[in-house]
Amino acid sequence: MAVVGSANADLVVEVPRRPDGGETLLGSDLRLFAGGKGANQAASAARSGAEVQFHACVGADENAAIIRARLLEAGVDISGVTSVERPTGTALILVTPDGENSIVVSPGANHALDIAFAEAAAGDWSQADVLVLNLESPIETVEHVAAAAAERGVRVLLNAAPAQRLTAHTLSVCDPLVVNEHEARILLDDNGGSSFAELAQRLLDAGVVSVIITLGAAGALFGDRSGIETVSSHPVDVVDTTGAGDAFVGATACELAGGRSLRDAVEFATAVAAMSVQVMGAQSSYPDRRDVDAWRETRAT
Ligand code: RIB
Repeated sequence: MAVVGSANADLVVEVPRRPDGGETLLGSDLRLFAGGKGANQAASAARSGAEVQFHACVGADENAAIIRARLLEAGVDISGVTSVERPTGTALILVTPDGENSIVVSPGANHALDIAFAEAAAGDWSQADVLVLNLESPIETVEHVAAAAAERGVRVLLNAAPAQRLTAHTLSVCDPLVVNEHEARILLDDNGGSSFAELAQRLLDAGVVSVIITLGAAGALFGDRSGIETVSSHPVDVVDTTGAGDAFVGATACELAGGRSLRDAVEFATAVAAMSVQVMGAQSSYPDRRDVDAWRETRAT
């Protein structure tokens, strides 16, 4: 499988609460983690057992070296990670005691992931059984690659995060589209009136081949034209939710690339995400497959 997407250095400070406008707050020591939705999703898929090639743009700086090193540790093929003359993408992250986060991203080198860059790598990613995309890369690149991949017979998993509207054609190639509740409502211009099942059905009516709506501690909803089902989550003590959605996406892609059903993929990915929120950071919190399998065993007994 392949991921075409973003890579960031995550600069994380734990704070007692989010600051108000004009307010200065004191927080914890600064910590640096490897992040970025694309890199996170690639790392999660590789740790879940998939062979993953990652295509991304980073700078020629120290943060890029850290990102490359963490991806190699996870087992990701980074031959498609290219240095450009922009600073490596950076995410400024505040984590509150409930494990919730607020994130501002400076995309930097991620802006260089344009259509020409993606097309130059098409010989590689079009060989994949599953291609993962998210919306932290330029939207015109994502929509172009999604259409081109589908035309070449590659299964497209699109994670519509951070939330943005998508064209009808892009929606029609998503198998699955993965969103949280907030992203689903933005895609559908829904002000809160639709239930989760109605959101899933409306996304199917909008043309997606299959859909997954992640619901955090409440689990996930998934389905296709044959019906919509739910999977419950695992109650855990939450330390940091940063990158939990990416852990879920990568694990789902791994399972789909391995030929598993959407239900099996969502069940596995729900466990991976639940494990990830118990540790600080994004990629630093992703479990290896053997640990997920062992953890699920303990939960089943
Ligand atoms: O989804 C979590 C990620 O969002 C972080 O790793 C940060 O880099 C931002 O891109």
